Amino acid sequence: MIYHDAIVVGGGLAGLRAAIALNQHNVKVAVISKVHPIRSHSVAAQGGINAPLGNHPRGIYDTWEKHAFDTVKGSDYLADQDAVIRMTKEAAERIYEMEHWGCPFSRTSEGKIAQRPFGGAGFPRTCYAADKTGHALLHTLYQQTIKFKQAAERNEIVIYEEWLVTDLVIEDGVCVGVIVLDIISGRLEAFQAGAVIFATGGVGRIYGNSTNALINTGMGMAVSYWAGIPLKDMEFIQFHPTTLLGKNILITEGCRGEGGFLLNNKGERFLAKYHDSKKDMEVAPRDIISRNIMREIMADGGFHNSYVHLDLRHLGEEKIVQRLPGIRDICLEFAGVDPVTDFIPIQPGQHYTMGGIDCNTEGETAVKGFYAAGEAACVSVHGANRLGGNSLLDTIVFGAIAGGNAAKYVQGLEGKKGEGALSDALKCAEQKIGTLGKSGGNEIQADIKVALNKVMDTKVGIFREASHLKEAVNDIKILQERYERIKLNYTGRRVNLSLVWALELKGSLDVAEAVVAGALAREESRGSHFRTDFPKRDDMVWLKHTLAYFTPVGVRLDYKPVNIGPFEPKERKY
Ligand code: FUM
Repeated sequence: MIYHDAIVVGGGLAGLRAAIALNQHNVKVAVISKVHPIRSHSVAAQGGINAPLGNHPRGIYDTWEKHAFDTVKGSDYLADQDAVIRMTKEAAERIYEMEHWGCPFSRTSEGKIAQRPFGGAGFPRTCYAADKTGHALLHTLYQQTIKFKQAAERNEIVIYEEWLVTDLVIEDGVCVGVIVLDIISGRLEAFQAGAVIFATGGVGRIYGNSTNALINTGMGMAVSYWAGIPLKDMEFIQFHPTTLLGKNILITEGCRGEGGFLLNNKGERFLAKYHDSKKDMEVAPRDIISRNIMREIMADGGFHNSYVHLDLRHLGEEKIVQRLPGIRDICLEFAGVDPVTDFIPIQPGQHYTMGGIDCNTEGETAVKGFYAAGEAACVSVHGANRLGGNSLLDTIVFGAIAGGNAAKYVQGLEGKKGEGALSDALKCAEQKIGTLGKSGGNEIQADIKVALNKVMDTKVGIFREASHLKEAVNDIKILQERYERIKLNYTGRRVNLSLVWALELKGSLDVAEAVVAGALAREESRGSHFRTDFPKRDDMVWLKHTLAYFTPVGVRLDYKPVNIGPFEPKERKY
């Protein structure tokens, strides 16, 4: 049995920031990640990270209160306001910390961190490093994570890369560790720890049309869900308005923040036609723009019934090369168009999971010693719709908070716990994997995954209605049954990706079931969840968080109140 005082699962921004916080408290911490940390999906974040720094002349009077209000309003009032206030109050400190750790932010002419407009604020609040902000932040944190290896001035942060967590082990309501598959050797190991933090990212890849990396299967959410911890607000899935036609690679909101236009097939800035986007146009919140793009396409205003144009040409080559170099590369390489001279064909695509592992502002879950942070968690700061630029902020603010709290918890513990529970769990995991490898069935993992993607894309998308959602419930049940007859392409244990994908597919199916159950039950429209059969927000009945509990026969739903603070729920007029 391997022992560390604390374990962080996930090597993205939230995970690394949590590990650094634990290390700052002199806790011996290990990071377990199914990919090398700098291949985590945080690296793909493009346009920026919000903080009310007031560095831009148009944002000079920005405050954490304004940032908090915009976040709550953007969330369609489902965000917990104590969490939002915590995040916006700590935003500037976390950004300057990243700057001091060497993050190469873009600069104003005075040398301050540059800010651009993103949806929700109405002025520039989003700090950025060209259009590779996630890359810049993640590499900065990774350098901090490994620096103790060389310097030996503090405990080294141990990193297990290419290890997949399969089980969370809880004994008498206390988390005692995890069971992990070493993908390279194929051996399962029990990891005992005083505290465990899950920062395992979102579940975007239950959809086919997604900006997410293929690794975003929702496995971390599933592992904690299977262990009895509820998932919160899973029906709230964000669709990013601008993803590259067909490939669905993210085309950052920064393009519109820098002044890009969305055009229909008549060359009109069609957002002006819709009441909820006519004021803020291309920098209205994402849920609104995504819906209006789809409405325009459905009203024959698109191209080939599937996309509209993003026009950056008027920005000029110099600005595009300086501020949006990655976007230009993506367009040239994946669409054969040059944004300097050509339109970019775009369509909305799945982008973010607002819901996640139910936890509070401290990152604590209902299980002692088990914490969650980042996209895997639902604190909740994003409610029904996240503002662009708030997810990166969420990762570093709540990563640091969860890590700090886990450190204090571990330091108060006496002795190691849970050896019996861990060895039992290890045996069960061995058995599960053994059975999976030997199944006499003929179902192929990839076929089930593609079928799941199709169900989610077509029946649980931007516009939802009861009949489609009911079909999706049924379709997923059938896929879960097919999963029981899955056959692995290869049954050896070393680097068995067939096994890894099969284990993760089970997680995707079960989490998708929770998404659909929440969406079907929620008979209102709020933020990203738009029901054509219930097109209005209904605060009397639905101003509450959904909790999905795993049971062997399916999802059990429950609800809990939203934490309302200074901002009374109002109609979300723009
Ligand atoms: O559009 C973007 O660059 C994405 C940012 C975000 O999701 O926060």
